Amino acid sequence: MRTQVGIIGAGPAGLLLSHLLARRGIESVILEARSRDHVEARIRAGVLEQGTVALLEEVGAAARLHAEGLVHEGATFAFAGRRHRVDFRDLTGKAVVVYGQTEITKDLIALRLAQGLPILFEAEGVAPGGLADGRPHLAFVHQGSAQRLDCDFIAGCDGHHGVSRAAIPPALLRSYERVYPFGWLGILADVPPVSHELIYARHERGFALASMRSPTRSRYYIQCAPDTDPSDWPDQRLWDELKRRLGPEAAACMRTGPAIEKSVAPLRSFVAAPMRHGRLFLAGDAAHIVPPTGAKGLNLAASDVHYLARALAAFYREGREEELDCYSERALARVWKAERFSWWLTGLMHRLHPEGSFEEQMQLAELDYIAGSRAAATALAENYVGLPF
Ligand code: APR
Ligand code: PHB
Repeated sequence: MRTQVGIIGAGPAGLLLSHLLARRGIESVILEARSRDHVEARIRAGVLEQGTVALLEEVGAAARLHAEGLVHEGATFAFAGRRHRVDFRDLTGKAVVVYGQTEITKDLIALRLAQGLPILFEAEGVAPGGLADGRPHLAFVHQGSAQRLDCDFIAGCDGHHGVSRAAIPPALLRSYERVYPFGWLGILADVPPVSHELIYARHERGFALASMRSPTRSRYYIQCAPDTDPSDWPDQRLWDELKRRLGPEAAACMRTGPAIEKSVAPLRSFVAAPMRHGRLFLAGDAAHIVPPTGAKGLNLAASDVHYLARALAAFYREGREEELDCYSERALARVWKAERFSWWLTGLMHRLHPEGSFEEQMQLAELDYIAGSRAAATALAENYVGLPF
């Protein structure tokens, strides 16, 4: 087989890239290790920046998002028994849209298959090759037979545990990492959300977040020890803890019900640089991870593939390589700012320091500053709604 761009991974990065390329007349083939059912069932985050929405509109995959997505013009930050709403619209002129990554993935897959364009699910043992000699290819096994996909470029969109980053010689790659000493225990339930906007709560017992997927489906998280076993948290125990951490106002109107999904996710910050090795380009989680506190993971995958599609288009249309040459630098400039915001908001909202410590007072002073200063609130809001591409 031959194509112009071989894409590894059918997550949001790989799928969106394939559509952005198709819009520019560039052919691609996506190789995905898992089954379509598996990919479409994964529960992930769900807050979209306006720039991400615009990219989904550009590729014609935003109809259901506009029909079912919830526009959020602010969010509440709860701390020390207080609640402060940060008004994104007022402070930045922008809003975010709450629409599950799971749904975006379904929409992007359906659109690509409807266009008759290839996604090979259950592609086993995908191995990038020819990176050094300028003849990139992907070897893999599909439906029992060994295959080879020759291509001009490889897009490594295969997430944090994929093969793309591992194909870059370690001496040429620098990685930066921070592992946080806690995780998030999440619960998804078919009950109406406790509030029409998200609530981020800093509490002595640990962070809590009230989020949602729709007017009838809620998503909540609590900060927990990283080795927490979800089976130690029967639904009732988790609901009681959420009520405590989110505070009496939320507790009074919180609707509870059986969990559809309950899992623990670790929190980490990670960046690998550069995001390119020869004709292999990394995008999304393959190159970087953010803790979920700032809701930036999916949005960074979207901005990466925006830059990459533009650079590939400049190459195919005008034979210019300069944009490809500055892809890594351009993508990383935005990545590092989102890393900074995610790290900062994580440190601000979680229980990290002993009660009564100086650091705890710093968290409270900073939250009080955000509540009282338009400048401080604007700094939070402009990062939350997304820095410009
Ligand atoms: N071969 C083929 N496909 C692979 C391989 C491999 N060796 N390894 C992983 N994959 C696939 C995974 O099964 C997955 O479908 O690559 C895809 C990567 O998708 P994601 O992990 O979703 O990563 P990405 O597309 O970068 O999306 C960004 O935003 O909200 C965050 O972390 C969240 O997934 C999210 C991310
Ligand atoms: C989610 O709804 O899953 C979610 C929302 C906001 C975050 C993280 C996760 O910051």
